[in-house]
Amino acid sequence: MALFKSSTRNIPDAPPVPRHIAVIMDGNGRWAKQRFMPRVAGHQRGVEALREVVKACRDLGVEYLTVFAFSSENWRRPADEVSFLMSLFMKMLEREVVRLHEKNIRVKIIGDRSRFDDKLNQAMQDAETLTANNVGLTLTIAANYGGRWDVMNAVQTMLKEHPEFAQGFKEEDLSPYLCLSEAPEPDLFIRTGGEQRISNFMLWQLAYTELYFTDVLWPAFGREELEAAIASYQKRERRFGRTSEQLASEQPKGGFDA
Ligand code: IPE
Ligand code: IPE
Ligand code: MG
Repeated sequence: MALFKSSTRNIPDAPPVPRHIAVIMDGNGRWAKQRFMPRVAGHQRGVEALREVVKACRDLGVEYLTVFAFSSENWRRPADEVSFLMSLFMKMLEREVVRLHEKNIRVKIIGDRSRFDDKLNQAMQDAETLTANNVGLTLTIAANYGGRWDVMNAVQTMLKEHPEFAQGFKEEDLSPYLCLSEAPEPDLFIRTGGEQRISNFMLWQLAYTELYFTDVLWPAFGREELEAAIASYQKRERRFGRTSEQLASEQPKGGFDA
């Protein structure tokens, strides 16, 4: 069973500081292009932006930060950019994870790992094992991740374990098999780089997430921009299907709507 409430089944909490932030780190290529640098230089600077955002999340008391590093569609990019991204990911796992571990950060990786080579698979496994018992921020890196893959994978795994569900199953039967089922659903989604789309990120988990889009390109995103996103989130009224009047009269939360 999932530990946290599903926003379409129960009314979850609406914490003033998001417990879970999901980020599409977009705009690296354009950031580099503006500076007459190769696209990959933007990816490199993107790692620094991530470092700053991780630190800011820890300071602010965010519990889960989930970042989109490589989508299941990004294989369509030029081969040299893809291989640069793979080696950057590898370097990041080798260099950064020790630092993250020292800061009590738990690292998780979500996505279809079957397309990564053995070395990268080993590094991902090592990062997760090393940091598994940390209780600070949980940093989840989505790599070769796609929202539709997540749902399909969950259904297939569930049916393997529970062939009887082929006759029918409920949302709560499926949810433990989805990525991040151990975390609350994201409170806040941030996409940098100006595009206003989800690009196949966490389609299931974002059902009631507050969406925030900014033109700031990812390498230029830092603590101040994160605080601006959280300030915007704090102005939102999270109704989860109810009316403003109900919220004002503080209807008791929790009603399980079968
Ligand atoms: C996001 O930046 C990083 C990845 C998708 C890996 P982009 O590389 O998409 O940068 P733009 O959107 O081309 O500027
Ligand atoms: C989304 O960015 C994926 C990541 C940030 C890893 P893209 O730049 O690949 O998204 P689209 O193709 O513009 O939608
Ligand atoms: Mg992009």
